[in-house]
Order: sequence, then C-alpha cells, then structure tokens
Amino acid sequence: MALIQVTDLKKVFGEQVVLSDINFEVKDGDVRVLMGASGSGKSTILHCINRLEDPTSGSIIFRGKEVAGPDVDVRALRKQIGFVFQQFALYSHLTVLDNVSLALRILEGMSKPQANDKALQELSRFDMTAHQHKYPSQLSGGQQQRVAIARALAMDPAVLVLDEPTSALDPIMSRDVADLINTLRKTGITMLCVTHDLALAQNISDTVMFLDKGVIRADDKISVLASNTSDPDIQAFFGNKDGLK
Ligand SMILES: Nc1ncnc2c1ncn2[C@@H]1O[C@H](COP(=O)(O)OP(=O)(O)O)[C@@H](O)[C@H]1O
Ligand SMILES: [Mg+2]
Repeated sequence: MALIQVTDLKKVFGEQVVLSDINFEVKDGDVRVLMGASGSGKSTILHCINRLEDPTSGSIIFRGKEVAGPDVDVRALRKQIGFVFQQFALYSHLTVLDNVSLALRILEGMSKPQANDKALQELSRFDMTAHQHKYPSQLSGGQQQRVAIARALAMDPAVLVLDEPTSALDPIMSRDVADLINTLRKTGITMLCVTHDLALAQNISDTVMFLDKGVIRADDKISVLASNTSDPDIQAFFGNKDGLK
C-alpha cells in the first residue's frame, strides 16, 4: 500500500479551479519531486495532504486513512508529516533549541530535558549545535532552513514534505541545503519535494511530476522531459537547461 495515495484530487478557490484530476502516489522510501510554474497549484497539493486546506473533491489516503475524513485527528496526522516551508517558518521569539524541542514537548508530551536531548541530537546531525542558543534572526537563511529541517525530523515523521526549501536562499546556501536534502535521501527517508531547482530535483530523484495549471501534465525522467519537443510548456520549463544529464 502506498504511504500517500492521491486520487482525482480537485481544489477550487471561489471561481478558480486550482487543481483538477490530480493522481499520484508516494510509497515508503520514495522521493517524489513536483515541479511547475508559480501559481500552478504545487503548494495547494501539499496543503491538502496535511489539512492546511481541504480538497473540494477526490481523495487523499495517508497510511490507509482518508485525510479529510470526519474522524481524522489533524494533530496526529501532522505529527507524521514533517513540513518544511520556503520561508523556514521558525518561531522568531524562540531560540534554535526551543524551536526544535517545542513540538516534542507539546505534541509528544516529552519532559523539557527529554525534548532538549532529542532536539540536540537532531541539531548535531545538521551541524547546528553551536547555534542552539541563538534566535532565528541571528542565523543565515541556510542555517534557518537547517533548523527547520531538524525540527521536522525531530518528530520522526513518516514523510518529509518540502515546499521550495531552497527558493529563498542565495545560490551558495541553496546548494548547501540541497546537498543536505540529498544526504537525507540516502538515509532512506520518504520525501515529497516541490522545487524550482532542477539540480536538486535531479540529485534526489529520477523522475519529476510536472504540474501545469492544476493538472499533472507529465510524470517522467528529467532527461525525457528535457528532450521533449512536442509539448511547448514542458520544453519551456525543462528544455535548454545547462547541466542536465
Ligand atoms: N487560500 C487561498 N485562497 C484563494 N486562492 C488561493 C489560495 N491558495 C492558493 N490560491 C491560488 O491558487 C493558485 C495556486 O497556488 P499555489 O498552490 O500556491 O501555487 P504554487 O505553489 O504552484 O505557486 C494560485 O492562483 C493562488 O493564487
Ligand atoms: Mg508554492
């Protein structure tokens, strides 16, 4: 059984059909990449998966249960889905350590020492131990994203969902975070990653889902997409890019 099974997902905001007929699955251990122009509906798909938005119709089954079902415990669902946003979304009034340990205390019910221990383990994986007492504003964007990823992983989620994790970073920090995500991939963690970064996409996955105006237009190897000559939108997005394999 797939970890996440999305079937005929549709989302309408007012008059605007943002997603239609979205079908894909994420199996345990998969790294799935979703690309597409700004406004094509990528974030909305991710938001429907962890109930930041409700689908208009269709189904999203996570670990055998409909996520929009009436008896779903949204907190329990979100504990299993580690979400990383483009803008880091750290709590600015909390230190690095507290940012990582807070959910462990509140959602996992750990004592403060227990939560701090676990948080420090995660921070050390990402070379952020020395920064544990700093506030987010005292860190670079790349460091903030490391903390955000550490915070998501501290909950031992079943899947890490990343929404353009490198887009707000300059090229050097962006490479740094991309390398880190690639290192995580090698540990076997299941990931669903939205990105504009073709190099990152190519490093972490063989295939890419290409979303265009709310429809998955292609789900294929990047090399196949890059050599597509029949679809002008796919060509515009993937074609003529340097460095593609
Ligand atoms: N909460 C919302 N209310 C109304 N419209 C929204 C909302 N969220 C997203 N949209 C619209 O849905 C479309 C897709 O947005 P989004 O999923 O954020 O695209 P992407 O992540 O691919 O850039 C956009 O036109 C956006 O304006
Ligand atoms: Mg988005």
